Amino acid sequence: MIEHKDHFHGSDLEKIEALYGIRKDEIVSFSANVNPLGISKKLRSELSEHIDVITTYPDREYTALRHAIATYCGTKEDHIIVGNGSTELIALFIQITHPAKALILGPTYSEYEREIALEGGRTTYYPLREQQDFKLQLEDFKSKLTDDLDLVVLCNPNNPTSTCISKNDMRDILDVCKEHSIYVMVDETYVEFVDDIASVSAIPLTAYYNNIIILRGTSKFFAAPGLRLGYAITGNTDLLHQINQYKNPWMINSLAEKAGEIMFSDVDYINEARDLIISERKRLYEKYNATSRFKAYAPTANFMLLKILDENESAETLFDRAIREKMMIRDCSTFPFLNDRYIRICFMSPEDNDRLFDCLTR
Ligand SMILES: Cc1ncc(COP(=O)(O)O)c(C=O)c1O
Repeated sequence: MIEHKDHFHGSDLEKIEALYGIRKDEIVSFSANVNPLGISKKLRSELSEHIDVITTYPDREYTALRHAIATYCGTKEDHIIVGNGSTELIALFIQITHPAKALILGPTYSEYEREIALEGGRTTYYPLREQQDFKLQLEDFKSKLTDDLDLVVLCNPNNPTSTCISKNDMRDILDVCKEHSIYVMVDETYVEFVDDIASVSAIPLTAYYNNIIILRGTSKFFAAPGLRLGYAITGNTDLLHQINQYKNPWMINSLAEKAGEIMFSDVDYINEARDLIISERKRLYEKYNATSRFKAYAPTANFMLLKILDENESAETLFDRAIREKMMIRDCSTFPFLNDRYIRICFMSPEDNDRLFDCLTR
């Protein structure tokens, strides 16, 4: 077995190519959490027709794009800022507010802690417990929200646990945070995959609370991580002003600007992606839980966390077996609060999902 001590990000196919000698375009990535449909036919043809947009600068205000996003999300275009992926907006928000002390979920996406540390801040974790299937315990969580905190980061649905916080619970959290002057950054990168978006997304709350900023992107749901198109939503006019003052004049290029105007109104594609993920999520959750090899935690996004119950296996042996069959899974041993008993897989086409299941349960 080749030892892969490196931490492979879901998109590090180049490293895999070099280490295992498998061509990256042959690998099915169950670790990048990207919608398996790829980009829509409509986007492909309309974007090609508009290739000439790169001969001009994007609109400094991104008015048409922000209008398209506002319509898609049911919010005001004045409350939207676009950026080079949600990653850039996470960084920008933290650079502007430079929180001295932040609270994040454990385990969660690693970028928040990295950015907070780069700005000189300190991060503490609120542990999600395995015994509670990694679900947030609202009352206990609220009791940890104290005056010394400047920022709470909630990834919703959370990567890698695929658990989520309802909009009602989020409202409760915002109320307590407001009392203690704590900003809440909610990363909704995966929210478009949940069963009922309206009961989870906190976007409507931005009209009532000025201590919330929501981040979203097109990398996962619209299968466009190379486009680098993300957006943030907040109703806090001072914060909007500060971000607009601080940011570069053009955060996204004219192709991404055009693509956004097309993709957010692509209703057929949006429905097809949701139908596929919702049905595969239910099917695979039941299928994995029906074996004695894994415990699956109820997923709400387009990926699922699995605990390995078979003592003869580990995240590393399963990773190795799957990659030799050109399927890449996420070994979760590098996530704080998880270990080599956990893997994460995202939902791809039904055929690929069955092929991975056969490989992992062999
Ligand atoms: C929770 C979460 N937020 C943000 C990102 C990065 O998104 P983007 O490509 O929009 O920068 C990822 C990517 O894996 C993610 O899992």
